[in-house]
Amino acid sequence: MLKLTVLVSGGGTNLQAIIDAVNDGRIQNAGIVRVISSKDNVKALDRAHNAGIETRVISKRSFDLTEDFNRALISAIDEPGTDLIVLAGFLTVLPPELVRKYENRIINIHPSLIPSFCGVGFYGLKVHEEALRRGVRITGATVHFVDEGCDSGPIILQKAVNVLPGDTPEILQHRVMEEAEWKILPEAINLIAGGRVRVDNGKVLIGKAEEK
Ligand code: GAR
Repeated sequence: MLKLTVLVSGGGTNLQAIIDAVNDGRIQNAGIVRVISSKDNVKALDRAHNAGIETRVISKRSFDLTEDFNRALISAIDEPGTDLIVLAGFLTVLPPELVRKYENRIINIHPSLIPSFCGVGFYGLKVHEEALRRGVRITGATVHFVDEGCDSGPIILQKAVNVLPGDTPEILQHRVMEEAEWKILPEAINLIAGGRVRVDNGKVLIGKAEEK
């Protein structure tokens, strides 16, 4: 079984999508061993508690030295024997040594079709505000492996979502979550747990399902 550690910072709807997919069998051969939040008192922690998943709060602000924060985060991830780190709305920059240690074993969900509306400063609602400001007709979400850049790692799955007249950033954010994020994040985890994803020359190759 692939051991997942999910990193969160807020509402945790993507965490919930993973919990639900594990429970109803859309994710097979994987389970969440720990949820780590960068903030205390967030809904994501309630969702983890309700599902009986162990949690840790590791907030950068509570450390004087970045090295101490990095060490605490890495050991909280190593401790349960994590195979795959899932960033599900985690808004703290990862220590480069963690990214190196878990090369091609960290995935992130981003609320746009990368390479649009991504990189430094593009997170959460800001992504949708910018998409509406630019007037795009189609947006979406991307699951990608995390490398040392910002939203620059190999793309695993993407799903397009229409922008509709009258959309506000909040309405668009919800449609992108519902139609794309909550589907492709569990799907990517299931593909990885099924041994079907490999990175070749900076690109993701998805293999066929094994015949049963
Ligand atoms: C999601 O829309 C996710 O794609 C986004 O934050 C939200 C978290 O929601 N992540 C980023 O913007 C990362 N750059 P959630 O806590 O309800 O899953």
